[in-house]
Amino acid sequence: MRKTIVAGNWKMNGTSKSIKTLLESLTAGVPVVEGLVTLVCPPAVYLSQVKQQLGSAPIALGAQNVSAQSAGALTGEWSLEMLEDIGCEYVILGHSERRSIFAESNADVADKVAATLAAGLIPILCVGETLEQRNAGETLALVAAQIDAVLQRVGVEDFASVVIAYEPVWAIGTGLTATPEQAQEVHAAIRAQLAECDADIADQLSILYGGSMNAGNAAELLAQQDIDGGLIGGASLKADEFLTICAVATESRK
Ligand code: PGA
Repeated sequence: MRKTIVAGNWKMNGTSKSIKTLLESLTAGVPVVEGLVTLVCPPAVYLSQVKQQLGSAPIALGAQNVSAQSAGALTGEWSLEMLEDIGCEYVILGHSERRSIFAESNADVADKVAATLAAGLIPILCVGETLEQRNAGETLALVAAQIDAVLQRVGVEDFASVVIAYEPVWAIGTGLTATPEQAQEVHAAIRAQLAECDADIADQLSILYGGSMNAGNAAELLAQQDIDGGLIGGASLKADEFLTICAVATESRK
């Protein structure tokens, strides 16, 4: 059975004090369930603090980005070696905010996924369409192209160690959520695309939904056959919301 993953993407939010308080609640309340992975992705400057506070709590650590380069004159960047050094296991890559605000191309994202896999960390590869692209009927082709760029770069075998997050751009931080049917359609298409290359790897792949997932809508989304968890922004900054989603994810495995 594939893993269910609940990941909090804190984006550029928090202070050392607010993060300490949030983590106190999360570490006290997160369920320990076989096959359920929970993780938090704080801003890079707080990764070490979070790692220390997590201690042996069953919550993994993820970064929100990384350089594909190993070292050198790259002001403002950080490397996979550094992430590994501080105990980071996951890296969100190709988030729509990185693609649109920081102009990351499919090729850039593919380079980062390849470097992350080579370093032994787990990429959470984000894909998704804008509202214009959805309205133009381009969703499935666009998402397929975003995944294909990575497939061409690393090969299907490496997808055994990749997590995919489908995040419709129009649903991120907007309070709009894809309907369970809209999300399921894209998730199933992603799995079918991988299955064309390797049916077993496609079957084991965890595909997360992201885009205004919260305590109120998580159950109907996670009930969908091909939705294996969530990448949660706004709601992951509130301990009760995040823990409720973890509880719903636990139920969804039964
Ligand atoms: P949101 O963000 O839950 O606030 O919509 C999700 C994400 O961007 O990963």
